[in-house]
Amino acid sequence: MTIHVLNGPNLGRLGAREPLIYGATTHDELVALCEETGKALGREVVVRQTDDESEMIGWLHEAADAGVPVVLNAAAWTHYSIAVRDAASQLTAPLVELHISNVHRREQFRHHSVLSDVATAVMAGFGVEGYPLAIRWLAERT
Ligand code: DQA
Repeated sequence: MTIHVLNGPNLGRLGAREPLIYGATTHDELVALCEETGKALGREVVVRQTDDESEMIGWLHEAADAGVPVVLNAAAWTHYSIAVRDAASQLTAPLVELHISNVHRREQFRHHSVLSDVATAVMAGFGVEGYPLAIRWLAERT
């Protein structure tokens, strides 16, 4: 079963964006890292990024209909988008909420997630290395 990795706003600017927080890896490199992880596990991994909330909601609906596991870095939407939460709630396979940075060491507004209580598991602070960890974890369970 395919594993979907869905990245939200500003993550397309990885590498250029606040590298002290998010690291030097670009989004293209992150895509390659996730695909290679999938290949080593014999699993197809699809990685997508959007700055458009309605597009993300459509991808979550697609993942819900297909019954596939998801790694979701909803970026800033994590902290306020009930629409993304409502879409994530429809997933039937495991959902990993992922953050590159340790959001709990950062500004207060990043400490709350509207997604965590509909996620199967939550990861923060592993850098981009969190993605292969999450993919491996999902691959063992789905
Ligand atoms: C993030 C953390 C969010 O607070 C922030 O808005 C992001 C990225 C992370 O991966 O650490 O854009 O989800």
